[in-house]
Amino acid sequence: MKITICKNEEEFNITAAWRIIAQMLAKPDAVIGLSTGQTTMDMHRIVSEIHAKYPFDVSRITLFNVDELTNLPREYAGSCYTMILTQIAGPLGLAEEQFIMPPTLSADFEAEAALFERRLAERGGADLQMLGIGLNGHIGINQPGTPFESETWVSPMDPDFEARVRRETNVPASTELGGLTRGIKNIMQTRKIVLIAKGSHKADIIEQAILGPVTTDIPASVLQLHPNCEILLDADAGARIAGRAAERGWEW
Ligand code: GLP
Repeated sequence: MKITICKNEEEFNITAAWRIIAQMLAKPDAVIGLSTGQTTMDMHRIVSEIHAKYPFDVSRITLFNVDELTNLPREYAGSCYTMILTQIAGPLGLAEEQFIMPPTLSADFEAEAALFERRLAERGGADLQMLGIGLNGHIGINQPGTPFESETWVSPMDPDFEARVRRETNVPASTELGGLTRGIKNIMQTRKIVLIAKGSHKADIIEQAILGPVTTDIPASVLQLHPNCEILLDADAGARIAGRAAERGWEW
């Protein structure tokens, strides 16, 4: 495991953006997994800005998001499809077939999950996953307790997030909301993972996930077992682990 702690949020955003660009330059047909949320908005904008100013070839790149909301319209501003489309896939000018996402509406999400994985596999599988982390240690929408062997599936949302989505959409109360997420097993099969977090509110969970035991109670702790994983943080998120990687012999 490699730990990188940036000196502030700005340096974090730029460094994270360059992890994506470096992958695109190193492998022009790379398959790159993204995450939505506060952590990733700025890095997506920076990738788009750098590409606009210094265009490089993205004509064979594939992007996808690690998860997607289910049972609401794809046009909802909070759907992962819309966020990734507006933040990065659109600005880079990617063609529709270069952006692989499961639908938000379907009569058979199990089939959609299998199709999503098949489409990624057809392109050679995921090279890079820029992976966010939730305050409870979730990765994708794999909440605490999810088995490490889980494969791409529909998971319940956490209650706070669900309440917000319901406030922001007209989805009837009778409609079950959830999230189609790559399973922990699928995420772990990615060739390279960069776990990203910024802000002091993430410092505790980063310490637990990175220096605590590997346990399904903290899904992100499984990353300690990944052969090519970088933990990329700003100084606030890294405050509890700064200088402690040597405890495990990790690269600093
Ligand atoms: C949601 C997403 C995750 C994301 C996480 C962190 O749960 N499904 O993929 O990593 O939020 O979000 P934020 O960056 O806003 O803290």
